[in-house]
Amino acid sequence: PPPPEVTIDGHTYKTDAWFNTPVNVIAAAGRRLHLQPDHPVAITRQIIEAKFPAPTFKYHNSLHPVVSTFQNFDSLGFAPDHPGRSRSDTYYVNKDTLLRTHTSAHELETFRANASQGFLLSADVYRRDEVDRTHYPVFHQMEGARVWDRTTEGDDSGDLAAAILKDLATLPEHGIPVDDPSPAFHAGNPRQEEAGHSAAEVEALGRHLKRSLELMVVDVFTRAKAAAAAADADTDASAGAGDGLRMRWVEAFFPFTSPSWELEVFYEGDWLEVLGCGISKQPILDAAGVPSQIGWAFGIGLDRIAMLLFQITDIRLFWSTDERFLGQFRGVSADLRKLARFVPFSKHPACYKDVSFWLPETAADTGPGAGASTNFGSSEHGDGHNDVMEIIRSIAGDRVEDVKLIDSFTHPKTKRRSRCYRINYRSLERTLTNAETNEMQAQVVAALASQLGVVIR
Ligand code: PHE
Repeated sequence: PPPPEVTIDGHTYKTDAWFNTPVNVIAAAGRRLHLQPDHPVAITRQIIEAKFPAPTFKYHNSLHPVVSTFQNFDSLGFAPDHPGRSRSDTYYVNKDTLLRTHTSAHELETFRANASQGFLLSADVYRRDEVDRTHYPVFHQMEGARVWDRTTEGDDSGDLAAAILKDLATLPEHGIPVDDPSPAFHAGNPRQEEAGHSAAEVEALGRHLKRSLELMVVDVFTRAKAAAAAADADTDASAGAGDGLRMRWVEAFFPFTSPSWELEVFYEGDWLEVLGCGISKQPILDAAGVPSQIGWAFGIGLDRIAMLLFQITDIRLFWSTDERFLGQFRGVSADLRKLARFVPFSKHPACYKDVSFWLPETAADTGPGAGASTNFGSSEHGDGHNDVMEIIRSIAGDRVEDVKLIDSFTHPKTKRRSRCYRINYRSLERTLTNAETNEMQAQVVAALASQLGVVIR
């Protein structure tokens, strides 16, 4: 049973049947890697902040991670049945209280409080997800927004398009090719009639948004390429800014922006999704008490960018307190030219262990009260997949590198469903002993059986 109360980063909350936040996640809340001097995540934050300078932008970097379901979902227009609300995807403290899954949870309050024309907000965010080298239950996002006010910046009729275009003209060009097949208006965009925005305003906001974010991404990826090249003797490290860089805009959907886009960058042979953004829907600004303002917003993940900037291949390293890791970044905040490729510790041996089981025969729904195995049976986000990940992570902590579903079948006669997971136990810091991995595996097997009700094969 859950503890009656839980303390997260100095605040105490009553729990209920929705509580599903493990101790290792609670322990990570409050580490605030984005504020730890010379930490790669903090350095990444500073690099991006430099592209959105004060006083136009105000920075908010210490918001508490526990928010209401209203802040995280309802205030932003998420539907009552949105899958992101499920207990298999989100860490709940109680029915109405959760660990924020994105920095957008603070948009309303920040638009309301914000006295300047824009803000940047960096924070730790929390999601139940896979166990592998790019996923960790705690990661970091930055939210950014820029607004214009009809009463102070509009023309006689309060139209802001001209004011926005004037600001756009002050932004530099970057000269990098951008593929943009999804402008604000096109025949296939069914969301072009957003209330409260003139066509000219949407056009101007979209252009200002895109140029601002392209400039930031060009800067970040030019640094990433330079860092990779500096460590690679065969590459010409003197290559010019943005050489070979390509970007593209992809139309996207978020409940609180319209139109919405994602920006992708062609990096080492793949299109990489870097950020989500869009024009803030007017009801968001109305609800924030600033109905005379219109603007744009974006959200970007800091950890993946930090991994590229420093060539870090395992996200667990960010949580390491090992001096062999942290020592490599000393002084970089003060002088960003010191950005260098991270020199990995020697790799310790991997230890693979499989576990196979039958899923419980009766499907339960995703809400609490259906017993311990709450997430089996629901479709896309179900099958207890994230619960399996969570149980393994809560036992092995940072001694598990990744977990893969390697086999899945339904018995033709009995219709029982079988799953097989392969767990890779490997510490970043030392060689695990056989006794230690066997002990972890035994605990994992026992916990899967007792907490999820599966039948081990
Ligand atoms: N919060 C969104 C996410 O986590 C990103 C986003 C932020 C999109 C702001 C639009 C505007 O995916």
